[in-house]
Amino acid sequence: MVQYSDELKEEIRQANDIVDVVSQYVTLKRSGRNYFGLCPFHKEKSPSFSVSPDRQYYHCFGCNKGGDVFTFVADIEKISFKEAMEMLAERAKIELPTSDDPELNKRQYMRSRMYAINADTAIFYHERLYKPLAKIAQDYVKKRHLDNKTLKAFKIGYSGEYNDLYKFLKAKGYKDNEILATGLVNKNDRGEFIDRFRKRLMFPIMDVSGKVVAFGGRKLDENEKVAKYINSNENLVYSKKRHLFALNLAKQSDAKNIILVEGYMDAISLHQRGINNVVASLGTALTDEQARLLRKYSEQIILSYDSDGAGQEAIRRGIEILEAQGCDARVLQMEGAKDPDEFIIKYGTAKFNKLVENAISLTEFKIKMLKQKYNLDNPQDKVKFLREVTILLSKIDNSIEREIYIDKFALNYDISKDAIYSEVNKILYKKGKPKEEVLDKKIPNLSKEGEENKIDASVLKRENMIIYLLVNNPVETYNTLIEKISENYFKNEHNKQAFSIIKSVEKADIESINKAISNIEDPDFQNHISEIMLSDYEITSIDKCVEDILSTYNKSILQERKSEILKKLDDEKVTDEEKNQLMKELNDIIIKLANRK
Ligand code: UTP
Ligand code: MN
Repeated sequence: MVQYSDELKEEIRQANDIVDVVSQYVTLKRSGRNYFGLCPFHKEKSPSFSVSPDRQYYHCFGCNKGGDVFTFVADIEKISFKEAMEMLAERAKIELPTSDDPELNKRQYMRSRMYAINADTAIFYHERLYKPLAKIAQDYVKKRHLDNKTLKAFKIGYSGEYNDLYKFLKAKGYKDNEILATGLVNKNDRGEFIDRFRKRLMFPIMDVSGKVVAFGGRKLDENEKVAKYINSNENLVYSKKRHLFALNLAKQSDAKNIILVEGYMDAISLHQRGINNVVASLGTALTDEQARLLRKYSEQIILSYDSDGAGQEAIRRGIEILEAQGCDARVLQMEGAKDPDEFIIKYGTAKFNKLVENAISLTEFKIKMLKQKYNLDNPQDKVKFLREVTILLSKIDNSIEREIYIDKFALNYDISKDAIYSEVNKILYKKGKPKEEVLDKKIPNLSKEGEENKIDASVLKRENMIIYLLVNNPVETYNTLIEKISENYFKNEHNKQAFSIIKSVEKADIESINKAISNIEDPDFQNHISEIMLSDYEITSIDKCVEDILSTYNKSILQERKSEILKKLDDEKVTDEEKNQLMKELNDIIIKLANRK
């Protein structure tokens, strides 16, 4: 039996993001910092299974199963821990010391040979670029303004002719089947070995760790009737939906976002000019896997796709995919150049950075698309435009976000805010049940079970935080929190009880509060309190925290009233006159809510 070292175990863990792995079995949806889905280990109708990308563990609040990526795979595949490790190593293409499975050994060996061939090939192509026979490629890189530092950083190269690479690899001792497995060389009908990439400018594609997994090659003679770019086919070490060009470099950037471009040359050109947080999706549609990969390194992703018509649809899809993974996706808008490479060469880094700064959201992007359809100087067109925009705005599920856009839109197009609000409300109201946003996954209220007694995780967290602050920092928080918050605010019974106990202490210091709390003998209550006290809240400034709690508190009061009104508007017994009154109040509330941020 082979024993695997702790380092190897760590390497395998690092290479298998828990969200990716769990996603193969469970449909996950991001909500806040975590992902949620239906627990695969027990039957349930509403999701109580959560996965934390930050901590790399999962937990089910329903059946209490939890652990790391290894226990997950072992549990779900019903295999041993060791077998789970092997499976995950295989998944991440990590070589394990010889195991008892000859098939597995063979594949692992093949993979290691393929990595070696790719690495040697990259060097072969790169060194070739500097030889006299590469004049055409040297002229080309000059024409594209690539400097030597860039050629080195990206290991850009020049491929051979006919079978130059094959001969080189054979001389290095690689076997035919290994070489063919990389797809860098093909065998033709006559049994001859021919290089896949010939007389092309070569771009090695590296994985996040910097290992070469594939290549792209650009033709050098524009007149030649061949594809502009050809790329490696997928193989044992390369799956194009899982890789992003230049991510190995971009991940080192300390920028607060990542810029996503379409082409090799766009990524390279921006890097060369000091914008090092750029990756390329290589012309294919963005995949969920790529979006998750991006989300690991940055929350904000800026799409900078080509500005042609086909690009618009790709942008829309791209943003939706990114947002589904919890990214804050923005669209960079560019005029005067067809792609980022052309733009930065023409206008420079500072101008490009301005574009990044001014990148817009999906909604703004859609409004812009609509605007192009109409001539706003024509009053009839303007009415149509407004109607379409209100429909668009009413589709935004999150009411806070909706309100922010309404404000922005009103300002940008000089239309009365109230007018838009009542138009949007009309649409929402007509649709029947107005949708209330669910910011966070519902999790069961621990004090009372039962479907109708579920509390938003974010609400519960906030309540818990209030109790936590009052118990741990009464001096700083007691006066503000106790005065401004009503007991009725608490949805969780234990929190409500804790709040009233704390409120009634004679002296608001840590000792008295703790004593009062520990006097309660109910084990459920104590359990709840201990859970709160053990949570690690990231509190950097207590004042800020209190301020935030109070602001959310006030907001939730408004929102509760809003829901109440919406319910009443649906009620047939309420008279039209009352409904009008309620509509007015609703508009006021919405405007108040929108003005908060
Ligand atoms: P572009 O044609 O926009 O590429 O295609 P580019 O990087 O701007 O190329 P230059 O500036 O003309 O050299 C975007 C990406 O789509 C893929 C490539 O990955 C390319 O970088 N593509 C394009 C192909 O795979 N095959 C093609 O024939 C064309
Ligand atoms: Mn280009």
